Amino acid sequence: MNILIVYSHPSEKSYTFEIFTHLKNILAAQKWNVEVSDLYANNFQGIMTATEYQREGNADTALPIPRDVIEEQQKIENADCIIFLYPVWWSDCPAMMKGWFDRVYSVGYAYGQKPDLPKMKIVKYGIVICTAGHPNNFLEEIGIAQSMEKVMLEDRLGKRFQHKEMLILGGTLAIDNVREKHREQVNELVKKINIDPLL
Ligand SMILES: Cc1cc2nc3c(=O)[nH]c(=O)nc-3n(C[C@H](O)[C@H](O)[C@H](O)COP(=O)(O)O)c2cc1C
Repeated sequence: MNILIVYSHPSEKSYTFEIFTHLKNILAAQKWNVEVSDLYANNFQGIMTATEYQREGNADTALPIPRDVIEEQQKIENADCIIFLYPVWWSDCPAMMKGWFDRVYSVGYAYGQKPDLPKMKIVKYGIVICTAGHPNNFLEEIGIAQSMEKVMLEDRLGKRFQHKEMLILGGTLAIDNVREKHREQVNELVKKINIDPLL
């Protein structure tokens, strides 16, 4: 199986990086092919330029798609499973990852498809893993967990993915209380991909 991890965190001295390392280790143990788009490390352009907006905002698919966007789209086409990993910042993913969706989900490819243009495949598995300072029960109580799930799973992943899961690794403000549980949750999620008969 080909896995693509789209990862967004600026620092290797972070808990999210710890989860990233753990995830890569357990995926490697499955002998799956793992490709990574480490957005900060790759200096990914997370903002849409005025030139790009000419194409995206006006749905002018005759205009060219930037090289780096085509490269990300190629990674999507090679993937059976895409894992998005990031810290929750202001109840959403970091701007860099939001920019990945803004730019890589280009018109004609991820939506507004036309017969003569390459369109995004339906990826078998879409997984969202985010770390959050607040505990899960608080994020649920204030409705933010539900809103993050709605936006990520129903809109950004949407019908482009066959099987979708979101794991909110909350409570990182008291990290020693949650570290072990989070590792187990990540392990369980990877096991689930492994046993899914459709994969
Ligand atoms: C700019 C910023 C915004 C944040 N916003 C939220 C938030 O809205 N909700 C939340 O639960 N935690 C929030 N946090 C806490 C992070 O989610 C938490 O630091 C992260 O999950 C784990 O830390 P790491 O940066 O060591 O990976 C925020 C942190 C930063 C730096």
